[in-house]
Amino acid sequence: MESRDKFNQHLMHPWANLPALGEDDSTPQICRAEGVYLYDNNDHQLLDGPGGMWCMQVGYGRREIADAVSSQIMELGYASTFSVFHPRETELAHKIASVTPGDLNRIFFTTGGSTAVDAALRLCQLANNIKGKPHRKHILCRNKGYHGSTYLAASVCGKERDKSAMDTETENIHFLTAPSLSEDPLGRSEEEFCDFLIEELETTIASIGADNIMCFIAEPVLGSGGVIVPPEGYNRRCWEVVKQHGIVYIADEVVTGFGRLGHWFSSEAVFGVCPDMITFAKGVTSGYVPLGGFAVSDAFMADISLDNANGNIFSTGFTWSANPVSCAAALAVWDIIVKENLLEHVREIGPYFQEQLRTLLGMPLVKSVRGTGLMAAIELEAPESLAGNSLLDRDYALGELVDHHCYQLGLIVRPLINVCVLSPPLILTLEQVDELVAKLRAGIEAAHNSLNQ
Ligand SMILES: Cc1ncc(COP(=O)(O)O)c(C=O)c1O
Repeated sequence: MESRDKFNQHLMHPWANLPALGEDDSTPQICRAEGVYLYDNNDHQLLDGPGGMWCMQVGYGRREIADAVSSQIMELGYASTFSVFHPRETELAHKIASVTPGDLNRIFFTTGGSTAVDAALRLCQLANNIKGKPHRKHILCRNKGYHGSTYLAASVCGKERDKSAMDTETENIHFLTAPSLSEDPLGRSEEEFCDFLIEELETTIASIGADNIMCFIAEPVLGSGGVIVPPEGYNRRCWEVVKQHGIVYIADEVVTGFGRLGHWFSSEAVFGVCPDMITFAKGVTSGYVPLGGFAVSDAFMADISLDNANGNIFSTGFTWSANPVSCAAALAVWDIIVKENLLEHVREIGPYFQEQLRTLLGMPLVKSVRGTGLMAAIELEAPESLAGNSLLDRDYALGELVDHHCYQLGLIVRPLINVCVLSPPLILTLEQVDELVAKLRAGIEAAHNSLNQ
């Protein structure tokens, strides 16, 4: 049986399109990868625009990671951190704590981003129960935010197009306006729009009552929501308001951490924010093996540990929490980032990447180009002539069309509906930026031409 037949017969992928389950003839089959390139089953070379899924930092086929993982498997392939600890997790936690802002010195490892967010939220719930404030359960989050796929993490996601027949928790969860200036219906200036967002945050806090609010959770730059870079000063002003009211600030750096914006974490280095918790995943192992976690402040933990714990335990954890093989991979990734100066490299190449992508503005089908560091989005505008009646159908069709043409030209763009998100490996060179932009331009042109035939 062919591989695609087996795929259709047995597999169900994330965000499975159920009406077409088992009838897929277009999802590419990727067989190998090296550097910034993937190769499909026909050995067609593809530049990896989205960097796997915002996670491929140091490039594919790194011998250092393979060696670290293989010797770790032979030395200690598994350890249950429910009952023991091991040197790889201590080493990694020590390194991460050395680059987090403020006193975020305690690390809780999970298996990925969703479990990191879920565990962070559950620690906040526990903290309030321990502190005799069980009513303090309200969560502030944003429209277009993405925080994961487990039940509680999914409940704080604000991507309207993902709101389907899936159940989520709705009680105690409040969505604030997405900090997306280009979508402001009133067309305000950046400063006026930012003032509005901060005022909305303040009035929401006032209406719920600060003492009932558990936390505010935010990605510094919204990733899956379409690479939304908030207005200047927004992150810091939100943090100031939230802290003024004694509310916990959680920065979800699952995408923005580990170099994507040219720093280990962006909260303080880029946005001047010192959160109480930072969640991370993806880039920590450069996507090679699953790992995630959160860093939490000593001050937060001091309130709920030792004598202040009232005998409680944090009863959350996973079979693969701080898995030694994952930690070994993360340490190898860390060494590569340091040895190859990848944080500096992103700070140098990021502005060129953004500038070159903006040369696509003005092309037919291109509505907007936005981003920062090595993350960007090209938003496409669907012409009315496209198949389907609703705008959503047209947007999907356009995204697929551009994806198809870029693929033929040797570039993966993986549009989220009508938004091509780019988050290439951090090792991308100047020449590869040019290659990526040239292929994207040609792919958009080809898509446009095919509409006019
Ligand atoms: C900001 C953010 N948080 C959390 C997650 C969930 O991570 P995972 O898919 O590893 O569970 C994602 C995934 O894309 C993300 O972008």
